[in-house]
Amino acid sequence: MPLLDKKKILCGVTGSIAAYKVCDWVRSLKRDGADVTVVMTEAGSRFVSPLTFAALTGNKVYGGMFDPEDAETIPHISLARSHDLILIAPATAQTIARLAHGLADDLLSAVVLAGEAKVVVCPAMNSKMYLHAATQENLAKLRKYGYLVIDPEHGSMACGEEGPGRLPEWDQVRNSVLGALSSGELAGKTVLVTAGPTEEPLDPVRFIGNRSSGKMGYALAARAVQLGANVILVSGPSVLTPPHGVAYVKVRTASEMYSEVMARFDVADIIVKAAAVSDFRPVEVARQKVKKTEAGLTISLMQNRDILHKLGEIKDDRPKPPLLIGFAAESENILENGRQKLQKKNLDYIVINDISADDSGFAVDSNRVTILDRHGRQTDLPLLLKEETALRIWQEVLGSESVPSGKIGQDEGADNEQ
Ligand code: CTP
Repeated sequence: MPLLDKKKILCGVTGSIAAYKVCDWVRSLKRDGADVTVVMTEAGSRFVSPLTFAALTGNKVYGGMFDPEDAETIPHISLARSHDLILIAPATAQTIARLAHGLADDLLSAVVLAGEAKVVVCPAMNSKMYLHAATQENLAKLRKYGYLVIDPEHGSMACGEEGPGRLPEWDQVRNSVLGALSSGELAGKTVLVTAGPTEEPLDPVRFIGNRSSGKMGYALAARAVQLGANVILVSGPSVLTPPHGVAYVKVRTASEMYSEVMARFDVADIIVKAAAVSDFRPVEVARQKVKKTEAGLTISLMQNRDILHKLGEIKDDRPKPPLLIGFAAESENILENGRQKLQKKNLDYIVINDISADDSGFAVDSNRVTILDRHGRQTDLPLLLKEETALRIWQEVLGSESVPSGKIGQDEGADNEQ
């Protein structure tokens, strides 16, 4: 199921040159399954033709307050009622001022005023206009009204100036949209996620590693942010950009990962160990590059500590034990091996990856996993994009009655409502 399946998003496009970037944003929302309708201000429609958005969304693009083709409907009321989220991007100083003052003198501002949908505002303008006290005060008002304002990026602008005012990257805005539409079930919780491979050096240029890309762990971290958690992402080497909003801790070796995870053990309500940790490391690390010899090379390896095993050993010592979610990369006896790891490492859940398939497991965008919980409940997920798998894993954990009390969504003394 796409992440924004059945969601109705109204996209307000106002008069900034950055409007052209929003064409791609709309396409991405559509790819995520959303039904997107665009409302353009008069100035917005000078930058990008309404026809472009009509073609991209498959929906009529709205402009004026009054629809001469359909005198019966009052578009600002029907549009306001029928959408889950209003994304205003780019939002000019003019539109921000309108919204801050509760004006309703164009369709977009009237829709915002009449609606109950969540509002996400992405300011984009010349940096002096953005930094002006009037704009800053207006933005503060929007935040007070409960609108989510995404700070613009710093950089060079179309007008030749440099400073804050550029539209942020879509990944960041998309995360915020997904977050605004999520249930926020992890609000107030701290989630520690490990991801990626570890590298165990042999000499200054070589190492023992594995094919993990970090995609599954990063997707779980991103979704936890969207669900409102404070997320710490401890990651081995990965080319991926850490999801916006995580506290990012970069490590290289299994031993570094061990130290960083242990240092944060006490603050975590949930620990997700998606990293592919190297089980072994070379006994000796050569200080100089190892030269080739006729005799070949034998490398002696010693075992790394099993971080997850250690966490399972000590978790029950805490007054409120963290929820422990492990992963298992398996190529044979998949279920049985996964079940054994769940028990041996004292986990609440294990997510079992079949790494023998080409379209699942390491270094691909999709995954097919089975989730087992400590009571033996089994959930087989179909082949999904890793982002969707992450969504389903969190749904499973949050929706499960088997989540031990004193964990998620529960304040001191309250019942565990999952
Ligand atoms: N893990 C860990 N520390 C290690 C090895 C593994 O924390 N030194 C964690 C992984 O992050 C994962 C789980 O243990 O959540 C299972 O990892 P996996 O590689 O599937 O299994 P292993 O326990 O290493 O056993 P084996 O390699 O023999 O299958």
